[in-house]
Amino acid sequence: MLEFYEPQADYGTPKSPSTTMVTLSIDGVSVTVPEGTSVMRAAAESGVKIPRLCATDQLKSFGSCRICLVEIEGRRGFPASCTTNVEAGMEVKTQSEAIGKLRRNVMELYISDHPLDCLTCPTNGDCELQDTAGEVGLRSVRYGFDGENHLVAEKDQSNPYFTFDPSKCIVCSRCVRACEEVQGTFALTIDGRGFDSKVSASQAEDFMDSECVSCGACVNACPTATLTEKSIIEAGKPEHSVITTCAYCGVGCSFKAEMKGNQVVRMTPYKDGKANEGHACVKGRFAFGYATHKDRITVPMIRDSIDDPWKEVSWDEAVTYTAQRFKDIQAQYGRTSIGAISSSRCTNEEVYLVQKMVRAGFGNNNIDTCARVCHSPTGFGLKTTLGESAGTQTFASVADADVVIVMGANPTEAHPVFGSRLKRRLREGAKLIVIDPRKIELVSSPHITADYHLPVRPGTNVTLLNALAHVVVNEGLQARDYIAERCDVAEFEKWLTFIGDDRHSPENTASITGVDAADMRAAARLYATGGNGAIFYGLGVTEHSQGSTAVMAIANLAMLTGNIGHQGVGVNPLRGQNNVQGSCDMGSFPHELPGYRHISDKATRDLFEGEWGVTLDSEPGLRIPNMFDAALDGDFKGLYCQGEDIAQSDPNTQHVEAALRAIECLVVQDIFLNETAKFAHVFLPGASFLEKDGTFTNAERRISRVRKVMPPLSGKADWEGTMALANALGCKMEYNHPSEIMDEIARLTPTFNGVSYDRIEQLGSIQWPCNDDSPEGTPIMHVDQFVRGKGFFAMTEYVATTERANRKFPLLLTTGRILSQYNVGAQTRRTENSEWHGEDVLEIHPHDAEERGINHGDWVGINSRVGDTVLRADVTEKVKPGVVYTTFHHPVSGANVITTDNSDWATNCPEYKVTAVQISKVTQPSNWQARQKSFDKQQQGLLKDARH
Ligand code: SF4
Ligand code: SF4
Ligand code: SF4
Ligand code: FES
Repeated sequence: MLEFYEPQADYGTPKSPSTTMVTLSIDGVSVTVPEGTSVMRAAAESGVKIPRLCATDQLKSFGSCRICLVEIEGRRGFPASCTTNVEAGMEVKTQSEAIGKLRRNVMELYISDHPLDCLTCPTNGDCELQDTAGEVGLRSVRYGFDGENHLVAEKDQSNPYFTFDPSKCIVCSRCVRACEEVQGTFALTIDGRGFDSKVSASQAEDFMDSECVSCGACVNACPTATLTEKSIIEAGKPEHSVITTCAYCGVGCSFKAEMKGNQVVRMTPYKDGKANEGHACVKGRFAFGYATHKDRITVPMIRDSIDDPWKEVSWDEAVTYTAQRFKDIQAQYGRTSIGAISSSRCTNEEVYLVQKMVRAGFGNNNIDTCARVCHSPTGFGLKTTLGESAGTQTFASVADADVVIVMGANPTEAHPVFGSRLKRRLREGAKLIVIDPRKIELVSSPHITADYHLPVRPGTNVTLLNALAHVVVNEGLQARDYIAERCDVAEFEKWLTFIGDDRHSPENTASITGVDAADMRAAARLYATGGNGAIFYGLGVTEHSQGSTAVMAIANLAMLTGNIGHQGVGVNPLRGQNNVQGSCDMGSFPHELPGYRHISDKATRDLFEGEWGVTLDSEPGLRIPNMFDAALDGDFKGLYCQGEDIAQSDPNTQHVEAALRAIECLVVQDIFLNETAKFAHVFLPGASFLEKDGTFTNAERRISRVRKVMPPLSGKADWEGTMALANALGCKMEYNHPSEIMDEIARLTPTFNGVSYDRIEQLGSIQWPCNDDSPEGTPIMHVDQFVRGKGFFAMTEYVATTERANRKFPLLLTTGRILSQYNVGAQTRRTENSEWHGEDVLEIHPHDAEERGINHGDWVGINSRVGDTVLRADVTEKVKPGVVYTTFHHPVSGANVITTDNSDWATNCPEYKVTAVQISKVTQPSNWQARQKSFDKQQQGLLKDARH
């Protein structure tokens, strides 16, 4: 979808949700629109543009600029069309001599206090003020610039991505309203009155020092050059644009990549994108510079040993070399001695090809994905209880929620655009229950206070969820008819006996969870009786030794209260990476073919064998942790790792590093020399999301197109690299375009039967299942019945983790993300986002800090039973006593040097969220950090030599 550049259509005021239609006449033409539509919007929909400055369809109408005046038959004066709603039979005139004169007079006042430097202004040709002056026919300004004006006001350049030039501000307050209504941060105000009124960030601070989170909503909304992207100031106006999907988180925002030739000059959130509806966060909106960063490796490289310098080679040579080494390894150590890891950062088509190469080319099922370490318990838990390994709703559905539970997730940092959507609903009055050991932003932020914050002790989620269900059952608040009609009643009865037992009561479990029993009771009552109840959860639920149990307990709670199967409710996993859902859907787990069908199922194998022309192994292969163990045992010798940095992201780093050193041929396909690549023998240059075609599937099961906006810097997109390797191994693949891969996926996968690039083009995006039963996709799942037939109440006995605090390790460490950085940070650390978060720190409660003589900013050692690292202390009450917290965005932080090998009983998802540690004041980095630094230096040197 390549288009010449033009701004997205703006109808002036938001669309009315009403289904009652009203007919009126605008300039003599009959127009029918939904009740509640503004006259301005009705005119715009019928092709008549009324000049405007303070109105935009992303914001509620405000009525301050007085440019949009119209005449309405039978009404006195000149009402503002943006704040006047249509009425049946209304007769509107948008043009007359009197209207024209009034508009010109108002415009003249604006322009008399505006620098007339249009020719050299960065937004020349893309400025609503300029356009509107033209539309109203302003030809001269009677007032000179001699009087009082704002023309010398100083620019604020503090934000790395946009500037604020107050001399150009017309005080329309679109920015202030965007920050409030769209983003929900309330960072901007209009200070002063009348002539003195001006836009201010927080308490008259620089943008950088204010509450601003750099989402860009104000920049989007500004009709002048006051708020302008620095990239536009530097590069000028774009000349074409391509619609694509953000490659950061699982929200899956749509963007217009605005281009000059092959250079991205701006990423503008796309209003028709159903996941984001025109909003964005600092990562997708601004942090795209990594894609052309000087650290990109664009030439394949090989070496025999990790102590050798890299040798740059052609794609052909790299692929032939790899295929030969893999064949030799299999000849020597057996068919199962090699495997692959696919990536949730890559497209569906790429993930599909990697698993196909493993099953059809390697001849085994040693394929796993980075989703193993984040949401594998979601797949298991939701499949077991509801029958499908996916969330149940659309993000937009939260607009109909009355009570929202956010558990083990931090949407405003990790899923920011959904966070803004949720905040909007909360400001409208929905109730909020936060279950998290930490005081996340949603607990208390401008205009939002959680009704209950249950600060659960890390590792005890299951106990807490059981207690909530116990209250519902014990107080008779369950949805009896719903359960009788839709759930397996015999299993429910068994579960009822289990959950009704007094040992699950809040009073009897408060000492385990650390949560006040009365708060647990009140929260359970609120969720069960407060109307539509929606649960959103994240890795704070899944990354535990009982992650799968907790997911099943969440599903139980939702079924128990009838909160699945319609708008405003549901069980919604907030997926971490852009394509976690897709990578799971595409058959990346060692036991499942695409569409979550078990490899042992003969009928499914027959289907794939028929299409691929091979015989498939019916035995599940190795999961990632099993690959590491097998490598250390000497049984696993070759690994192809596409787009995942296991050396940084997987737990117990020293164990992972030892396993990687034991592998004879490690092939890494990535855009940078990441931590894993430092142990590699073959480096295949990856392509960024801007360099390839494909699809991502977000947390709503929404399949969206990723479109190539520039050629791959290495000459090959990732799917082409995989295809070359597969062919060299004798596994024949012939695709000319990723659409052909999607056609194959659709042929072989019932939930994708109706998906094709043409269909996505037509509908914009598709939420699977999409097939003959739902040709336009499925926004809400389990509507009439659960996918598994009857909903299954799984037993959720709490089995405590072995990772407990004791005298030696008295504190519990838990981890999470921050807004400006992204996971291992390989991308965001190579952008100006690092200005917000240059290092990971350890949050510690003042009591725990004082006991240890630790002051804010001190270096502290963090010791666990598997390792130790050193970070700077952030003494804060965000964490409660007994709990410490850190992020993991910088390799040198070594957050995973201390996390253990404990994992979920059902899926092996690591228990990142619970590590018993001791904290003490130190003066130097840990031994691991010192080793990491020197290894990094050695490997950067070897890379430099190759490049010379
Ligand atoms: S960038 Fe976003 S958070 Fe910052 S002031 Fe603008 S709208 Fe508010
Ligand atoms: S900065 Fe832009 S959007 Fe904000 S008040 Fe000024 S002109 Fe309007
Ligand atoms: S919310 Fe997620 S998908 Fe949307 S722009 Fe931010 S990082 Fe990208
Ligand atoms: S656009 Fe209607 S008053 Fe400003």
